[in-house]
Amino acid sequence: MGVDAGAVVRADSAAGVGEAGVAAAPGGAAVVATLAVAGAVLGLAAAGRVAAGGGAVGGTPVGLAAAPQAASRTEVGAAAPRITSDRRVSFPFIATPYARLVGGALEVATLRFEHRRETLGIGVARPRLSWTVRAEVPGWRQAAYELAVDGVRPPETTGRVASGESVLVAWPFAPLRSRERATVRVRVWGADGSASGWSAPAEVEAGLLDPADWTARFVGPTWPEDPTRPRPCPMLRREVELRGPAARARLYVTALGVYEARINGQRVGDHVLAPGWTSYRRRLRYQTFDVTPLLRAGRNAVGAILGDGWFRGRLGFRGGRRDVYGDRLALLAQLEVEYVDGSRETFATDDRWRAATGPIVASDLYDGETYDARLERDGWDQPGYDDAGWSPVAPVAWDLTTLVAPTGPPVRRTAEVHAVAVTRSPSGKPIVDFGQNLVGRARLTARGEAGQTVTLRHAEVLENGELCTRPLRLARATDQYTFRGGEAPETWEPRFTFHGFRYVEVDGWPGELGPGDVVAVVCHSDLERRGWFECSDPLLQRFHENVVWSMRGNFLDVPTDCPQRDERLGWTGDIEVFAPTATFLYDVAGFLESWLRDLAAEQDERGVVPYVVPNPLPNAYVPAAAWGDAATIVPSVLYERYGDLGVLAAQLPSMRAWVDCLANTAGARRLWDEGFQFGDWLDPAAPPDKPGAARTDPGLVATAYFARSAELLSRAAGLLGQADEAARYAELAAEVRAAFDREYASPNGRIVSDAQTAYALALQFGLIEGAARRAHAAARLVTLVRAEGHCVGTGFVGTPLILDALAAAGAWDDAFKLLMQRACPSWLYPVTMGATTIWERWDSLRPDGSVNPGQMTSFNHYALGAAADFLHRSVGGLAPAGPGYRRLRVAPRPGGGLTWARVEHVTPYGPAACRWRLDGDLIEVEVSVPPNTTAEIVLPGRDDGPVEVGAGAHRWRYVYAQERR
Ligand code: BGC
Repeated sequence: MGVDAGAVVRADSAAGVGEAGVAAAPGGAAVVATLAVAGAVLGLAAAGRVAAGGGAVGGTPVGLAAAPQAASRTEVGAAAPRITSDRRVSFPFIATPYARLVGGALEVATLRFEHRRETLGIGVARPRLSWTVRAEVPGWRQAAYELAVDGVRPPETTGRVASGESVLVAWPFAPLRSRERATVRVRVWGADGSASGWSAPAEVEAGLLDPADWTARFVGPTWPEDPTRPRPCPMLRREVELRGPAARARLYVTALGVYEARINGQRVGDHVLAPGWTSYRRRLRYQTFDVTPLLRAGRNAVGAILGDGWFRGRLGFRGGRRDVYGDRLALLAQLEVEYVDGSRETFATDDRWRAATGPIVASDLYDGETYDARLERDGWDQPGYDDAGWSPVAPVAWDLTTLVAPTGPPVRRTAEVHAVAVTRSPSGKPIVDFGQNLVGRARLTARGEAGQTVTLRHAEVLENGELCTRPLRLARATDQYTFRGGEAPETWEPRFTFHGFRYVEVDGWPGELGPGDVVAVVCHSDLERRGWFECSDPLLQRFHENVVWSMRGNFLDVPTDCPQRDERLGWTGDIEVFAPTATFLYDVAGFLESWLRDLAAEQDERGVVPYVVPNPLPNAYVPAAAWGDAATIVPSVLYERYGDLGVLAAQLPSMRAWVDCLANTAGARRLWDEGFQFGDWLDPAAPPDKPGAARTDPGLVATAYFARSAELLSRAAGLLGQADEAARYAELAAEVRAAFDREYASPNGRIVSDAQTAYALALQFGLIEGAARRAHAAARLVTLVRAEGHCVGTGFVGTPLILDALAAAGAWDDAFKLLMQRACPSWLYPVTMGATTIWERWDSLRPDGSVNPGQMTSFNHYALGAAADFLHRSVGGLAPAGPGYRRLRVAPRPGGGLTWARVEHVTPYGPAACRWRLDGDLIEVEVSVPPNTTAEIVLPGRDDGPVEVGAGAHRWRYVYAQERR
């Protein structure tokens, strides 16, 4: 994901010698040294780095050694995969030497519009502005800023504005008009009197902000199609005559279906599966591309290939549905050219376009793509091609008011993974092992005879040496390529499909298959990496790396449950539990903002949130706790992590509708204890075929979430200045809490479902009154965790809460024992089995090496990886204490035998870091606090209260009592 973050991070991290750190450091005999240094906090833990991204940890293959019996039935473990051209950023401070700010104590580092890195075609007239600074001044705080805008408009400036705000500041100028390009600069002053120069200019360009800007109409092929059979992908083209060279040209484009646009033989942009997946009937994204370099004076060919994608491909399980959004593919393209003389011309999809089928014979997200290279139409996207034999197109009716600009990044091809082995299965088929379970597709290169077909089948695991496709259920996940033939090698990668796989079985390969012949191409939303965690334990480190890989695989335009089987849906419960982890690891603000708008758009008139968003499922409109509560929880997490009040404002009606729906469902008793629930889904005690049969009462879970949602709604209303509404829902929340307490908690504080999830919910959501009762409940939770032998005893709902609940109860040892557990069920058990992603089930691969027989057995589900947020906040010790990390709470916690850990996060104010290391009897803690923020630091093992610090790098080294470890 974003390659540029490294530069931002390492440059941003400069900070002066932190006077505050020295002054506020705890005194007393235990403190051996207290230092606060510029930059030195960063880059010290490199020695402990393990092979991130690999199936091997610390050079030892994980799976086979730890689980020898597993090898007999199922292939696990592997050598580390070789990954090239990966757009991820590795640990920024380790990857690059720390650079001190040279020649100036203060400068603006970044200036952004909304949450976008790419600002061409922004969809709002008043994009909010955020900037970060590099400051060598310790404790630097902003006192004022000045913004200036330039462009075709008369220049404007705000003058000096006395304000400490630097994140999502309201656009202070006249609104942008459609297509308008503007350049913004900012300069800042510090409370200490420091002043920066003007920032580098940042450019923004508005997209088409008004439906009336569109002269194009959707057009599609007219040939008859049989929806019960695979439908070939249409190609559409038209030639246009430019009366001179273009000074500036934009292509505004989208499709009913997925598209790849082309101009004069070249691909437009590098998006994959554009326009992505939204609730199309209410929100359909269009993209804006700068196509100036692709055009020339005279004749130009403009074209596009269309695929079924989410629009009319198969969606959903048990056979699913096709044509969910419509049965006709169509293209909407508007090419706007501005000539050197300033005149303009627009070429838009209309009845002059022509259509034909081509080499993509079939394409489906679940089933894969079939390509016959003999059907290629050479030169079709070049001017001068004879399309006389092509069919006319016809308009396809669509409401253009649904068109919206993206708020998040597109899906891209972000890395290539090379095979670690090519083996032959017992049935004689070559199987390529990429050593990493990933999401994307395979690219092949070979020379074959015309008409010869290679078949690629994908799977996440092997069973008895053969591809194990049972977990894919009805997704065929099969790509087929038929050679065109000839002397030259042919290279092919499917366009309009993706698979979740580590293994590819290859059939029909011409000659001997070599390890370099098939390469895996990783695809996902091109989010910017924002967070890193490393520690001394290789298994825990690999667990974290697995969380990152599962996030990559399941952030493919929509936050999905899984990327491989006949599902891949935006399950609300999964992102509800994973949102805190996601917001830390990547910048998901724009991505989830878009998804939340879809969530709101999909709510029915009763406020019910469907199980999945966007929703292609029949019968999904039944309120389900922890799933539908994504409506309140995800916006609240975005506010907490990114300081985005706008997202709360935008989602408030949706949040309110959901809570009102719960109030209606629960009725006057305020107990939501009737009707269907997923409950503590996948409690490890539930049988494989009954994933909902949890130990915790589903009504208890639902009532707990009802209280939580009412509380979050009340807080959001309060933040938005709606005091009455805040009071009303605070009262509702109090009533629900009281009802919960009456119904589910004993006078002493025992909970009726005597299960870990029940206690974790009651404690973390604050549902029982009285300190003594809470202490009793906490003690009972600890007893239950111990009784389980510190194996995990929670499902979807309890898992993100259990470690925090134990920590809050002071049971850190138990939290660490649970975290570091290797026996099944535990977070590390899959790692011992060679997992390279997070599994759906605690035992997707069972200890005897067999694949779990349940109908749902994915090897790439991020939900249970939600524990990574505890690693970031508590083991690493970096948490927000104010919206958007304006204030940080840094409270690292050694334990579990760890000797060091480090965590870094690029907050909206710049990079923050915390690292601790045990060194004999000493501990060293280093903290980096971004400019314009403050932090409270809770030093491990010290009881003398939090230390207050300002921006800068701070270091403490002191005696750390053994018994505290
Ligand atoms: C999905 C889960 C989802 C669940 C809801 C499953 O099929 O994969 O992750 O949340 O259904 O019950």
